[in-house]
Amino acid sequence: MLVFLQIIMGAFVAGIDAGFGFNTWPLMEGKWIPDNLIPLSPVWLNMFENHLTVQFTHRMLGYLIAIMAIVMFAFQFGQGASALRAWVTLIFLMIIAQILLGILTLLLVVPIPLALLHQGLAFVALSVIVVATTKTS
Ligand code: HEM
Repeated sequence: MLVFLQIIMGAFVAGIDAGFGFNTWPLMEGKWIPDNLIPLSPVWLNMFENHLTVQFTHRMLGYLIAIMAIVMFAFQFGQGASALRAWVTLIFLMIIAQILLGILTLLLVVPIPLALLHQGLAFVALSVIVVATTKTS
């Protein structure tokens, strides 16, 4: 569900070319939480039209997904069926690769091959998560 939401938010980043600004990592404008994050009114408009907010929320949700993948991976040791462990490991590796690709895409100011890889892996990862859910539940 979170990865699905993140893909939609990725489309907002690409849609308004928000990846062409704030090309530093991990900080944005020298800060973990940049100033002037919600300048537009009404507030929800920032989620779609403000480059800073759109990119910031895409980053933050990406980190949350990464933390969940790491926690899942860490807790799988010594428990569950081996098929479940294999799925968890695969999902963990894909999410880490996806985060690294996102950071590289940002730092190199959106080269098309990297942006395409980042977009493509997102859909592969979502598909793997859906299949894993049906196979293990
Ligand atoms: C689980 C984590 C992530 C997923 C599933 C994800 C997914 C996506 C998707 C699907 C797009 C492209 C949307 C489109 O073209 O329609 C996108 C765009 C982008 N993402 Fe991510 N993303 C993740 C994490 C990150 C992170 C951590 C960063 C940077 C710190 C990042 C940076 C970008 C940038 C710069 C773009 C715009 C590329 C462009 O203009 O074509 N992403 N993301």
